[in-house]
Amino acid sequence: DPVYLNGDFLPLADAGISPLDRGFLYGDGVYEVIPVYSRRAFRIDEHLARLQATLAGIQLSNPLATDDWKAVIAKLIEAAPWDDQSIYLQVTRGADNKRDHAFPPASVPPTAFAFASPLVTTPADVRARGVAAITVPDLRWRRCDLKVISLLANVLARQQAVDQGCAEALLIRDGFMKEGAASNIFIVKDGLLIAPPKTQLMLPGITYDVILELAQQHQQPLEVREISETELRAADEVWMTSSTKEVLAITTLDGEAVGNGKPGPVGERMWQWYQDFKNTVM
Ligand code: PDD
Repeated sequence: DPVYLNGDFLPLADAGISPLDRGFLYGDGVYEVIPVYSRRAFRIDEHLARLQATLAGIQLSNPLATDDWKAVIAKLIEAAPWDDQSIYLQVTRGADNKRDHAFPPASVPPTAFAFASPLVTTPADVRARGVAAITVPDLRWRRCDLKVISLLANVLARQQAVDQGCAEALLIRDGFMKEGAASNIFIVKDGLLIAPPKTQLMLPGITYDVILELAQQHQQPLEVREISETELRAADEVWMTSSTKEVLAITTLDGEAVGNGKPGPVGERMWQWYQDFKNTVM
C-alpha cells in the first residue's frame, strides 16, 4: 500500500527523508491519528482543525490546505485493503543543510507524511474485563495541548506501565490527574461523569469531545473540572478514551480495584452510545 510523502504516493520502502530532518534531530513536528470506520474517516474536520491549531502553536505553516489533506486521506483509505483503519499524519519543520536549534530559512519546506494501517481494536474479552493502569508523575512540558511528535515523557510513562503489566499510565501533576500517556481519562462518582477541563496541560482529545457531546445528548450528569489524585482513587469508574481505544474501562489502578473491579454501568452505556454514534454520523 502506498504512503504519502511531500506530494507523492509511493511504496513505504521507497519513502526516504533526510537524516537532517528536524523531526529526527529535534522532534520538531506535529502529528494526528484519525480512525477510519467502514472506509469513512471519523471526525476528519475536527482532526484537521487540531492539526492546524498545533501547527499554529509551533509557528509552522500547514503545507496542505484542508481539502488537500482530505484528498490525501481519501486516497490512502481507498488504496488500503482494510475497512477499518488508522490514518497517521505528520508534519515536521523539514531538513536544512546544517544543524541549528532556531528555525531554518523560509526556503526549507516542511516534511509532510501520511500512511494508513489497520485499526487495532480492543478484543471483546479485554473490554469486558477492563485494563490495569498505574499513576506516574507528569514529567511533560507545559504545552500538552499541542499534539507534537516530541513524546519522550509519554513514551517513558507508557513503558513504565507496560513493564508493570499495565495498559496505561495516568499522569499526575501538582496533585491532579491530567490524562493518560496516550489517552484522555474520565471518572464516575455516584453516577456523575467527571472530565478534566481543557487547559494547556492536557491534549484536547477528539474522542473527549465526542464523549462530552454524547453525555449531554443522553442527559448523563456531567461536570468538567480538575480531578485530584485522591478523587481518582475513590472513583467508582475510571475510563480511558482515544481515537484507537474508543472508551475502555480501567478496572485496576496501582494494583487496587477501581470500584468493584469491573467495568461500570456509565462506561458501558457510553461505549454503546459511542458505537451507535460512530456507525451513523461521521
Ligand atoms: N493519542 N491524550 C494524549 C496524550 C494522546 O496522545 C491522545 C491520543 C489522547 C486522545 O486524543 P484523541 O481522542 O484525539 O485520539 C489524549 C493518539 C491516539 C496516539 O498518540 O497514538
